[in-house]
Amino acid sequence: MQNKINITFEKDALRQLAPLLQLKSYSSVFVLVDENTKKHCLPLFFEQTDLNEAIVLSIPSGEEHKHLDTCETVWNQLSEEGADRNSALINLGGGVVTDLGGFVACTFKRGIDFYNIPTTLLAMVDASVGGKTGIDLGSLKNQIGIIEEPKQVIIHPQWLATLPQEELRSGFAEMLKHGLIADAPYWSKLKQLQRLDAEELSVFIAPSVAIKKEVVLQDPREKNLRKILNFGHTLGHAIESYFLTHSQKNRLLHGEAIAAGMVLEAYLSSVCCGLTPLEAEEIKKVFSYFFPKVDIEEEDQIGILALLRHDKKNSAGRINFVLLNAIGSPKIDIVVPEEHFTKAFEFYSRD
Ligand SMILES: NC(=O)c1ccc[n+]([C@@H]2O[C@H](COP(=O)([O-])OP(=O)(O)OC[C@H]3O[C@@H](n4cnc5c(N)ncnc54)[C@H](O)[C@@H]3O)[C@@H](O)[C@H]2O)c1
Ligand SMILES: [Zn+2]
Repeated sequence: MQNKINITFEKDALRQLAPLLQLKSYSSVFVLVDENTKKHCLPLFFEQTDLNEAIVLSIPSGEEHKHLDTCETVWNQLSEEGADRNSALINLGGGVVTDLGGFVACTFKRGIDFYNIPTTLLAMVDASVGGKTGIDLGSLKNQIGIIEEPKQVIIHPQWLATLPQEELRSGFAEMLKHGLIADAPYWSKLKQLQRLDAEELSVFIAPSVAIKKEVVLQDPREKNLRKILNFGHTLGHAIESYFLTHSQKNRLLHGEAIAAGMVLEAYLSSVCCGLTPLEAEEIKKVFSYFFPKVDIEEEDQIGILALLRHDKKNSAGRINFVLLNAIGSPKIDIVVPEEHFTKAFEFYSRD
């Protein structure tokens, strides 16, 4: 069992970072940012850490850069700047920076230490916790990667002040998921929020992280329990990929796609698992309050289902789901007969 997930929410953790790194006697320290975190987060990072000798490496923003060629650029920069086995990399950014930076660190000279400082809500409650690092392969998400814990994750809500509202909402979807799969009282608290405000949301970060951490500790390599974190993601990923590859469609953020996925899978839970129709309606109501409805036409459903059949979570041609027995109580590896999908989309689209 894995027991070295080191996450801190301490107010002065950033001030403690320089002394901590000094104790480790790193030969050099690098900070990886993207265009946005370079602008919005890096000045405050230097001000609070005093790590003035750290060398900044910058990548372009966006999922489309979570690819091997970006890794190659960063590996080259590390090499040109004289990084060695005893260097350390600090990832200051959203999930793209923490996923790619973690992977770059794990593979440079067969692995150097890395630290995550997540700056989006999604990275705070999800991407930076649990040790999954990696990059995309063409349009296939997270196909290449390594599971390796960062030396430390420092979570501080101050970064959320500059985060666009839709990015905040995207992270909020994962928090709602944590309630649905593990903690009904937490779900009840979140659903009572009137609006998504960084300051109000910040008190809910630690409970979400605790849920994810607990699941990962019990099943770091996703043999069984960790699969519950995929609730809403089987259909959600298919929707996300479909919208990504159909240029006439609006681009959907990950959280927006899995919000739709969770409503669809709530319906499936009410026909193939123990969730009551009333609970499924409640879930739909909460998501439609916070998230605009995704416009899914009949022809889109066909495309989404075609992608679903290729989902990596399917084994032996069967489509496996994580469904809910009740709010807070998930069940893994449920095979859903395809005839239920049309009804699920009807349920989602109905006002
Ligand atoms: N490793 C895991 O377990 C795991 C889990 C969930 C998601 N992910 C990955 O995380 C990625 C999504 O993460 P994300 O939503 O953080 O995306 P992201 O890193 O692309 O960040 C979203 C946007 O916000 C900008 N940004 C970041 N911090 C900011 C700040 N403080 N102020 C202003 N702008 C800021 C970024 O530049 C980017 O444009 C995906 O690649 C996904 O596969 C990984
Ligand atoms: Zn997700």
